[in-house]
Amino acid sequence: MNETFIQLAYIASSVLFILGLRSLTRPDQARRGMRLAALGMLVAIVATLAHQQIVDYRWIAGGLVVGVIAGYPLGMWVPMTAMPQRIAMALSLGALAATLVGVAEYYTRIHEATGLGRGTAIALGFEVMLGALTVTGASVAFLKLQELITGRPVTYRGQNVVTGILVVVLLSLFGMLIARPDNTFAFYGLIAVAAIFGVQLVMPIGGADMPVVVALLNSYAGLAAAATGFALNNNILIICGALDGASGFILSLLMSKAMNRSFRNIIFGAFGSGPTALAVDATGDRTVRSLSVEDAAIQLAYAQLVVVVPGYGMAVAQAQHQVRELAELIERNGGEVKYAVHPVAGRMPGHMNVLLAEANIAYDRMYDMEEINADFERVDVVLVIGANDVVNPAARSDPSSPIFGMPILDADKAKSVIVMKRGMAAGFAGIENALFYAPRTSMLFGDAKATLTKLIGEIKAM
Ligand code: TAP
Repeated sequence: MNETFIQLAYIASSVLFILGLRSLTRPDQARRGMRLAALGMLVAIVATLAHQQIVDYRWIAGGLVVGVIAGYPLGMWVPMTAMPQRIAMALSLGALAATLVGVAEYYTRIHEATGLGRGTAIALGFEVMLGALTVTGASVAFLKLQELITGRPVTYRGQNVVTGILVVVLLSLFGMLIARPDNTFAFYGLIAVAAIFGVQLVMPIGGADMPVVVALLNSYAGLAAAATGFALNNNILIICGALDGASGFILSLLMSKAMNRSFRNIIFGAFGSGPTALAVDATGDRTVRSLSVEDAAIQLAYAQLVVVVPGYGMAVAQAQHQVRELAELIERNGGEVKYAVHPVAGRMPGHMNVLLAEANIAYDRMYDMEEINADFERVDVVLVIGANDVVNPAARSDPSSPIFGMPILDADKAKSVIVMKRGMAAGFAGIENALFYAPRTSMLFGDAKATLTKLIGEIKAM
């Protein structure tokens, strides 16, 4: 009876997870998706607590209390712009849990003579190997994203040889474990070498590629959880782990496609290594036109079609509400406002959609790059708010640029462009942007939120 309840509850929570993931594919249903997935997790936890193998609830209760105390501030107070490193930290902890479960299960089976079959040894081996490399790999990703260590690729001579040796050692230890499941040297050696391998894997990757790597590590952590499920004979872990593994992998593929980067390039390239030759080429003798708030207000108030291009700077400034207010004013003056959302604007997938939606901007006003790029030629004013790399024409025209080939928003084709940012600093890729020097571009310097507030006041006073 108890077992039937648990399995039915697991099926219910799996359905909720799948529906949740499905809803996450549309920004207007994303919140609903998160609620469905959270409900699924609650059902899974309750069902697991009903398990007869649990003989003492005190540790679990303690764990829940610690989890809530640690999880609440992480969820509520970490800013959206710090989400990639927060996810990396959570991944590392999740993988640590999977590894510890693997160690506990192995230890119990070896020392309490419950027996360890070859199938279980393979599952546990996978679990601790993927778990340990995710623990250290995600920790390095966290340190890089939080800028506690350099975000540049850390490379040294003979790195690929070391990687090759580590792979051979890992495979050998795995082989030894399969040959003799009670070979504790192979089991614990696998964990130690996988942990070193995680560091070796992520250190050479540049900061700009880190979110893609985090998505990939997410996929490894999912596979580790699925392996845990096989070892413990737990269906919900197998289903969750498979969903996590597959969605993390698909996400990393989509992100690298949007950045026009191949996996090989991400793992062996040096993108995100900081300012390049192009950045040094800096201002040269090119001039930048700076615009006053008053002039920008006049231009926007009389424009027929305005396209807003939001970027990471809008997220930093938290200017989304002012963006909506400005758009309402333009529309009251008879203009039309659309939003052009680049797939990798900001620092995580859907970053801009989430912020614009938070400010109650209608979803049918948000256009994907492919939908809006052909329209730019007839746009009166493109208002670039804290975006940089995603409107950098070098991606189209300069084969030496590290972002060459990345699809961009064709803002430079509009009749006029107003770029709102604090100074001439580079974006994530660390490179110069020719759009800022183009004849039809004017720079409106200042923090995005403060500048938008002044613009709104100016238009209201007109
Ligand atoms: P970025 O190219 O990073 O540029 C953001 C700009 O915002 C900066 O140049 C900065 O210039 C400005 N800024 C910062 N704070 C501001 C503020 N308070 N007010 C006004 N402006 C401010 O942003 P993007 O165009 O959104 O491009 C995203 C980049 O991240 C791409 O290179 C992309 O490949 C990378 N990336 C994204 C993702 C995902 S999934 N979204 C994943 C990995 C990598 P100032 O300092 O001069 O103001």
